[in-house]
Amino acid sequence: MLVRLIYASTAKETVDIQEFKRILLQAQGNNQRRDLTGMLVFNSKVFLQALEGDRDKINDLYGRLMRDPRHHSLAILKFAEIEERHWANWSMGFAAPNADNRALFLKNSTQSVFNPYGMGANAVENLLMRLASSAIALTAPRTEVDARKEGGVFARFLKK
Ligand SMILES: Cc1cc2nc3c(=O)[nH]c(=O)nc-3n(C[C@H](O)[C@H](O)[C@H](O)COP(=O)(O)O)c2cc1C
Repeated sequence: MLVRLIYASTAKETVDIQEFKRILLQAQGNNQRRDLTGMLVFNSKVFLQALEGDRDKINDLYGRLMRDPRHHSLAILKFAEIEERHWANWSMGFAAPNADNRALFLKNSTQSVFNPYGMGANAVENLLMRLASSAIALTAPRTEVDARKEGGVFARFLKK
């Protein structure tokens, strides 16, 4: 059965750009193998993640996520059976809330800042869908130049 899970969590202080990148690459590798797809939003403090796929596999992953010491205060915002995936092309896309998409936060919530804990299930889902258009796919950098370039992209996103 195909389901979608959306949850928010809070990053441990030790999660910097390098650690975040490890999380994203780990998610992409694992999810591809398990036919899981989704989207991850991160503003250097709070994570918002959507996961789609087989119910048993999503439940299994959520169990692992709850035991992952890199974040805490996990809160399920939505869990539902779905007919189709929103992010079929993303093993795990990444979108950063920043000045460019501030209007999106106002559109779907009462605040222009990123606070998924306070948002309703449908609002949070809409926000994730809209953010997907600004998502970037990160893969393991092939060269040092790529690595530096990606580091720059991250630094810019996370600063805003
Ligand atoms: C915010 C956050 C999001 C994560 N997303 C995923 C994910 O989508 N898929 C996944 O397999 N692991 C994800 N992880 C990592 C898991 O918590 C866990 O470390 C991993 O699945 C362990 O499996 P492995 O050791 O076989 O790689 C995430 C971790 C964090 C902190």
